Amino acid sequence: MAVSGLIMLGYLLVHMYGNLKFFQGREKFDGYLHETLPHMFYPYLPEGGALWIIRVLLILALVVHAYAASTLWRRNKAAAGYVGGKRYHTTQHKTGNQRSYSSFKMLWGGVILFLFIIGHVAQMMPNWLSPGGASDSKYDRVVNGFELWWVVLLYTIGLVAVGFHLAHGFWSALTTLGQNRSSTRRGSRWTLISIALATLITVGFISVPFAVLFFGAGS
Ligand code: HEM
Repeated sequence: MAVSGLIMLGYLLVHMYGNLKFFQGREKFDGYLHETLPHMFYPYLPEGGALWIIRVLLILALVVHAYAASTLWRRNKAAAGYVGGKRYHTTQHKTGNQRSYSSFKMLWGGVILFLFIIGHVAQMMPNWLSPGGASDSKYDRVVNGFELWWVVLLYTIGLVAVGFHLAHGFWSALTTLGQNRSSTRRGSRWTLISIALATLITVGFISVPFAVLFFGAGS
């Protein structure tokens, strides 16, 4: 769960960096998506080759992540004696030790994220879903979509889910990999670092739809 999650986090960071090129205008953004990315490692790899390797890795990471999530969920249920996860409850920790709002929401947040990614890829990649109008330019596709309030609302829901998922997930992955030696969640410096990382990624992504809808960027 930890390793597949970190692979997807790496992708998200690069993707967010790429998205910020939106603020440099259509030419730079489309140049990056239509020229730079498909020619990564060219001529050592064929055109688009590196992108396909990344896609296969991402799909594998997603499958492993979902499989590990369902295994953990079943184990957790079994450990709690099928009484609804009360195993770690104490009077001091009513929500359970080493638990947080995010950790309770991981499952449903993960489901929202999955639906978000399906809708998002269908919108951005083959022009299948084109709210606001289809276009060969990905820059125009982004602008056309984000001029609609309900598209921005759906993205905001998806991106807030990304934030909650990461705030807990990154902390949890580091714990699994042995970096978090604190006995309580609050005592761990990684808690703050995880929240900062999650906030950075959410704000970085959300800046594009908000700039289009509220400040008319791209029109
Ligand atoms: C406002 C936020 C976002 C914008 C403006 C955006 C924009 C884009 C664009 C323009 C593409 C097409 C890239 C290409 O042609 O290579 C794309 C692809 C993609 N995006 Fe996003 N994205 C956003 C958020 C996200 C988030 C939060 C995730 C994951 C949770 C995500 C996952 C993906 C994936 C998996 C692809 C397919 C990449 C590929 O197959 O090459 N995106 N996005």
